[in-house]
Amino acid sequence: MTNAQLILDTAIAASRTGGAILRRYFEEGVTMRNKSGDGGKSYDLVSDADEESEQVIASIIRETFPDHELLGEESLQGGDVDSEHLWIIDPLDGTNNFAHRIEHFAVSIGYYENGQAKAGAIYNPIHDDLYTTVHGQGAFRNGQRVCVSSTDQLGQAMIGCGFYYDRGSMMQATLAAIEECFSHNIHGIRRFGTASLDLCMVGCGKLEGFFEYNLSPWDFAAGSLFVTEAGGQITDARAGTLPMSSTSVVASNSHLHSALTEITQRHHP
Ligand code: IPD
Ligand code: CA
Ligand code: CA
Ligand code: CA
Repeated sequence: MTNAQLILDTAIAASRTGGAILRRYFEEGVTMRNKSGDGGKSYDLVSDADEESEQVIASIIRETFPDHELLGEESLQGGDVDSEHLWIIDPLDGTNNFAHRIEHFAVSIGYYENGQAKAGAIYNPIHDDLYTTVHGQGAFRNGQRVCVSSTDQLGQAMIGCGFYYDRGSMMQATLAAIEECFSHNIHGIRRFGTASLDLCMVGCGKLEGFFEYNLSPWDFAAGSLFVTEAGGQITDARAGTLPMSSTSVVASNSHLHSALTEITQRHHP
């Protein structure tokens, strides 16, 4: 990768600055809006915090890398996923937690070259928790190297999951997959509500696995590299290569990947 250190430093600076904006709005309060306007899904939210964080992140990246492309959830929809240099940004992952004053949300920034994940930073500004990764150099939480768990029994696993904003077939499929997980006597299911941090928890060995039937590139752009650099595996729910588009996602500590994808594939909506 060109300029690995400068790219990581930029990702960290941008995630910390975006995170500071989220922290300020979290403390001072901000009006949450229905994302698709009146008549849209009442639980698909956005706020000035999401938008301002994205603007600041974009300007920090553009200052250092003016010719790089940007793709972000709110207003940065132009970036081509196969471009030579692409930054993929979720300026506030876990908007619903943020709206309900739950201190579990993050800024997520992934850097890609020709479709390949090269670096990432994920930052929880409330806990001042920084997760970083560079291709070939491992995964780190606040500067300490982390790795996935060694558990190879579903019966010893803690599994994270997420529900897509869909409340129909996708939700039913997720519930069916959860039920099958429980039939293996897993230790538990968790739904924390911030996909990027869910992936960090797999990388840090807290969750043995995680699945969600529909995520967008900005939800997993940085977290997917974090998982693999920590020794884990990440695919779609049919165990296929993860595309850089809306997709199902299964992450694991590697040992449990086939067991988990057998379940997610069986219930795939
Ligand atoms: C959402 C969160 C959530 C996941 C949703 C995502 P947002 O992102 O990551 O955990 O279940 O699918 O859309 O909207 O809060 O950035
Ligand atoms: Ca998100
Ligand atoms: Ca978001
Ligand atoms: Ca959103």
